[in-house]
Amino acid sequence: MSDPLAISEESVSAAVDAALAAIAGADDSASLKSARSAHVGESSTLSRLNATLRDVAKENKAAAGKLMGQARGRVAQALASREAEIEAREDEERLAREFVDVTALPSRARVGARHPLSLLQERIADVFVGMGWEVAEGPELESEWFNFDALNFAPDHPARAMQDTFFIDPVESHLVLRTHTSPVQVRSLLERELPVYVIAPGRVYRTDELDATHTPVFMQVEGIAIDKGLTMAHLRGTLEHFARAMFGEGARIRLRPNYFPFTEPSAEMDVWQPHAKGGPRWVEWGGCGMVNPNVLLAAGIDPDEYQGFAFGMGIERTLQFRTDLNDMRDMVEGDIRFSQQFGMVV
Ligand code: DAH
Repeated sequence: MSDPLAISEESVSAAVDAALAAIAGADDSASLKSARSAHVGESSTLSRLNATLRDVAKENKAAAGKLMGQARGRVAQALASREAEIEAREDEERLAREFVDVTALPSRARVGARHPLSLLQERIADVFVGMGWEVAEGPELESEWFNFDALNFAPDHPARAMQDTFFIDPVESHLVLRTHTSPVQVRSLLERELPVYVIAPGRVYRTDELDATHTPVFMQVEGIAIDKGLTMAHLRGTLEHFARAMFGEGARIRLRPNYFPFTEPSAEMDVWQPHAKGGPRWVEWGGCGMVNPNVLLAAGIDPDEYQGFAFGMGIERTLQFRTDLNDMRDMVEGDIRFSQQFGMVV
C-alpha cells in the first residue's frame, strides 16, 4: 500500500481521478469553482503531492516531476474545457432570459365600449337640451308619496299592489324602489322655479321576471313641461320632434286615448318607424298627457295659472326599436361583446 501523500503512479492517478470526477460533476460555475479549489487549490492533494517533489531523491526527480506535470496538465485541461462548456451554456441561458422579441405585437389593454343604453340616454337628453330643457334626477329609492300619492294614484290603485312594486322593509318606512320616473315630475316642480321644462332619464324597478321582453330593472325617460298656456299641441309637437330624432326624418306619432292617474287627458303614444327592419310600422312607444291638476296642486301650483304636459317611455324599448334587437336580456347581462357592436362612442 503506497503512501497517498508520496508521489507514485497510484497516488497521483487517484488524485487525478478524484479531480476529474469532481470537474465532470460540476454543472455550473459555482460548483466548478469549488471543484477547482478542492482539487488544484493550495491544500488539494495534487498541490500537496507536488510540494513533496523537493524531497524526492535526485535520481527519481525527473520521473516524479514528469508524472506530476502530466497529472496537473490533465486536470488543468479538464477544468478549462469544463469551464468553457459551462460558460457557453450559462451565456446561452442568460441570452434566452433576456431575449426581447422586437417583432412581437405589443399587448394592448382591451378597449371597452360604453353601454348602448347609457349612450342612448345621453342622446335623448341632448335632444331635449337642444330645445332648452334641463336634465333632472330623482332617487331610485323613492318615497311612496312621490311614486304614487303625489301622482294622484288612488290608495287602492292596482299599480301599488305587491306584484308590481318592490316595497322596502319595514313597510311603515313607506319607501319603494321607484316603479317609474314620474315621481321626478313632482320633485322637479317642488325644487324649481316655474316655468319648468325637464327631462329625467333613470332606472326603475318592477317585480318582473327577466325574460326576452321583461326585466325587473329597466330605464325610462320622463318629460314634464309646465308653463302658461301649454296645450296638447305643444305635447304633440315636442314628441314628434323627439320621434324624428330617434327614428329618422320620416317618423311621426299618433295618440290613442288611455288612462294614467297623473295626466288628464291621457294618451298612449305610438310611433311610426319609417326605417324598421321588417318594413315601416307603428309601435307603442310610451304614455303621455296633460298634467292632472291634482299633481300641480300636490306641488303647490295653481292649475288655473299654469298647465303643462308630461310623457314617459322605456329606454330599452327605444333602443330595441332603433336597432331591431329582440332579446331584452342582451341589454342587461353586461357582455362586452354586446356593447362593442355599438361602437366605441365616447
Ligand atoms: N309612468 C308611466 C309608466 O311607467 C309612463 C307615463 C305615462 C309617464 C304617461 C308620463 C305620462 O309622464 O304622462 O308606465
